Amino acid sequence: MESRVSGIYMNELFAWLYDNTPMYVSREDVGFFVDEAVASGGPVLELGCGTGRVLLPVARANIEVTGLDCAEPMVARLEEKLAREPEEVQGRVRIARADMRDFDLGRQFRLVMIPFRPFQHLITVDEQMACLGCIRRHLSPNGRLVFDCFHPDLRKLTDPAGFEEAEEFSGHKLPDGRLLRRTHRFAARHVAEQYNDVEIIHHLTDAEGRTERVVQAFPFRYCFRYEVEHLLARCGFRLVELFGNFDRSPFADESPQMIFIAERAAAGE
Ligand SMILES: C[S@@+](CC[C@H](N)C(=O)[O-])C[C@H]1O[C@@H](n2cnc3c(N)ncnc32)[C@H](O)[C@@H]1O
Repeated sequence: MESRVSGIYMNELFAWLYDNTPMYVSREDVGFFVDEAVASGGPVLELGCGTGRVLLPVARANIEVTGLDCAEPMVARLEEKLAREPEEVQGRVRIARADMRDFDLGRQFRLVMIPFRPFQHLITVDEQMACLGCIRRHLSPNGRLVFDCFHPDLRKLTDPAGFEEAEEFSGHKLPDGRLLRRTHRFAARHVAEQYNDVEIIHHLTDAEGRTERVVQAFPFRYCFRYEVEHLLARCGFRLVELFGNFDRSPFADESPQMIFIAERAAAGE
């Protein structure tokens, strides 16, 4: 299968920026996923674990966790961070360099989680189904699947202003002293296939005032609520809960997130 992550995470600069982007560092989902991991009792499999933003807090909470990711620069940063953890935390972590559309770890997990939307990097239904099939084979009989997608805002999906660069933040001081400003835009919309070509644009200004523009370009799928419910059913899952945010509020019109909690359906269900 062709890999679409190459433009996004297969780059040391982007992996470093990932760990230094304020809205990622302060994203309010970590407690939610740690609570799910603790409630499961482990072992946990995190797909698209990246640099360990969620995985490390799960391991610190005394839960055995395997992180799977296909982007070497992200996994390398995770390994560096893990090496600085106490030995008992390190002992609870396994890392798998693999593609979430095609993996076989030869064991089962009480919880499979996919925090911060890696599932939306899967563009086609075939890719989504391949991933869900792998997950189902890796879930123990009472195991749970937990993942989040953004709740598509129909206004934003069609607004022509979306092609213009919009500022997310500016003046953020990076550890190397440079200042980071970040903007984003849609480069193209593919409404029939339900994905956008997204550009995240980093404007890096050094002490001499020189600004470098670094563009992270990638296709990103959007999913609708009932589409995911049908997809889960088609792939042998039963939806147990749908939240609209990480405070576990019910999914509603203005919810920013769609957080799906599913279980393996019994055969024939
Ligand atoms: C937005 S990051 C999320 C990282 C982490 N879960 C977190 O919450 O910080 C998305 C991650 O998904 C990974 N990813 C994307 N497509 C993937 C695939 N097909 N197989 C494995 N990992 C993938 C990327 O390499 C990246 O590390």
